[in-house]
Amino acid sequence: MDRHTLTLRRMRQNRHVRELARETRVSREQLVQPLFAVDGISSPEPISGMTGVMRETPVSLLKTIERDLEAGTTKFLLFGVPARKAASGFDFSFTAGRIADIKKHFGEDLFLAVDICLCSATTHGQCGILSPGGDHVENNATVEELARAAGEYAAAGADCVAPSDMMDGRVAAIRENLDRARLERTLVMSYSAKFCSRFYGPFREAADSAPKGDAKLKDRTSYQIDPARYRDALMSSRRDDIEGADILMVKPGLPYLDVLSRLSLEIPKPWAVYEVSGEYAAVELMAGQGLMDGPAAHVECWTSFVRAGASMIITYGARKAGQWL
Ligand code: PBG
Repeated sequence: MDRHTLTLRRMRQNRHVRELARETRVSREQLVQPLFAVDGISSPEPISGMTGVMRETPVSLLKTIERDLEAGTTKFLLFGVPARKAASGFDFSFTAGRIADIKKHFGEDLFLAVDICLCSATTHGQCGILSPGGDHVENNATVEELARAAGEYAAAGADCVAPSDMMDGRVAAIRENLDRARLERTLVMSYSAKFCSRFYGPFREAADSAPKGDAKLKDRTSYQIDPARYRDALMSSRRDDIEGADILMVKPGLPYLDVLSRLSLEIPKPWAVYEVSGEYAAVELMAGQGLMDGPAAHVECWTSFVRAGASMIITYGARKAGQWL
């Protein structure tokens, strides 16, 4: 071989040198486990495609968290699913009650973020309050309800509130509401670059939040970001940064790695990435068919998120990290 050939395989030849050369590492400290607390079910229920994740009752939720903490998972993102749906004037007490419960049992042993959206609480499954004609989601009326939810959840003890609705101005309204209530230490994690994606399928079953069929509005294209618009994600994230978000997010993960990579260079705040239900389920389903090594594939995805600039990963596999990493 020519002496001047660039030889790269020496540093690939065994585990030891590969470990030494690695620039990107994933550690379980970076992972956030989503939780579903469902009102009105009598026992935990599985979710299609989502191995190891359940729709929990208030009682099973605490047991699950206890087990997660024993296994070393300490960060959570809670989704509350109320039984009573409404079109406006929502009742946030079910989710607030779960937050208070969790904090009473586990206090500072865990970090609890809570999703802020209305889609699990509306009769129609849209992420906000519909116009009288039912043809669009009203921005400002929705923002008022979101800010009220954030205030109630923070008062119940949430460490972080995470608006996922994609209304304009919600971060500013939430921050203002929290500060006015002297909840100035509660973090806001904004789903600032949330795309209108097909990969949310399994989640919508879990959270009972799919847009219902007979409504005029059939999807979320009028508020979530078009997959073809990087610059919309850029403007949305810059705005949420200025409005006071502490953590910004790209969601989904793998199909939007380029967005994560560019945005995390553009804005110096911490970046989260959400490996959404469809991404997680895709790996699980292939692994279940014997088509790939599931744990290694999950770790490969997580590595790519960190390489692209995420400092934290929201993933349904967080509770397995001890075994997988
Ligand atoms: C609520 C919300 C969604 C997800 C998180 N918050 C679904 C949606 O926007 O339809 C998706 C999470 C996942 O798929 O894992 N708006």
